Order: sequence, then C-alpha cells, then structure tokens
Amino acid sequence: PASQRLYHKNVVDHYDNPRNVGSFNKNDLNVGTGLVGAPACGDVMKLQIRVDDEGNIVDSCFKTFGCGSAIASSSVATEWVKGKSVDEVLTIKNNDIAKHLSLPPVKLHCSMLAEDAIKAAVRDIQAKRASSAKPAAQAD
Ligand code: FES
Ligand code: FES
Repeated sequence: PASQRLYHKNVVDHYDNPRNVGSFNKNDLNVGTGLVGAPACGDVMKLQIRVDDEGNIVDSCFKTFGCGSAIASSSVATEWVKGKSVDEVLTIKNNDIAKHLSLPPVKLHCSMLAEDAIKAAVRDIQAKRASSAKPAAQAD
C-alpha cells in the first residue's frame, strides 16, 4: 500500500532498529557532545563521539527527540562517524545522509540536524582538548 512506500527501507530499518542509542558522560575529556535543535519543528538531537588520542572516533551514540527521519538520520550518522578522524567526519553532508535514506525534500532539515550535530560534537571535543592541552615545554 502507498502508506508503506512513503519511507525508504533504510529509514524504516534505522527507525525500528536505531543503532547506538545512548549517552556518554559529557564531562569525559575524550567525549565530544553536539546538541542541536531544528527551529522548523522543535526537534532536538544529541550526538556524541568518543575520540582517542590520535583524533579518531572510536565510538558514537545519540539521543534524538524528534521525528522518524531525525532518528534514522542520527542512527546513520553514528554509524558513519565511527572509525573516522574528527577531520574526516566534517565532510559528511546532510545530502549524503538524506540520499542514503531517500528522505523526501520536506524532511531534509532532519538530516541537516545530523550534520549539524556531528559538527557540534567535533567543536566540543576540539575546545576541550585545546583548553586541557599541556604547555609544549612540559613534554618529556
Ligand atoms: Fe544503515 Fe546504511 S542502512 S548506515
Ligand atoms: Fe523536524 Fe524531522 S520533522 S527533525
């Protein structure tokens, strides 16, 4: 029936079986947290990354209070960032997520939320690391 064709199977799968739902301690120095909201609908997405000393993302999780497309977009985003460096994930575009999920145009802002959340999480870990960096003179 037409009602079942509104969403691509990848959306349904990520909505029914979202990957990596959860939370890391946001005060952990190896955790970056991105919390973003969509003005259009009021939905909110939190995406977190756990980063090793080399700047690689070893784990990721999310909590999203939002529509099915936003939940599916966050689930895909957490899958895609794992194993990449914090620089690499900045190239993940909402269009790639939207295409992967075959989101209709009216749902593009949902995948935009995921791109914004990734960027916010990277900014957070970079700010943490910058402020906790030891003076170079202390290296031994
Ligand atoms: Fe899950 Fe592609 S179907 S990331
Ligand atoms: Fe707003 Fe999907 S309808 S995030």
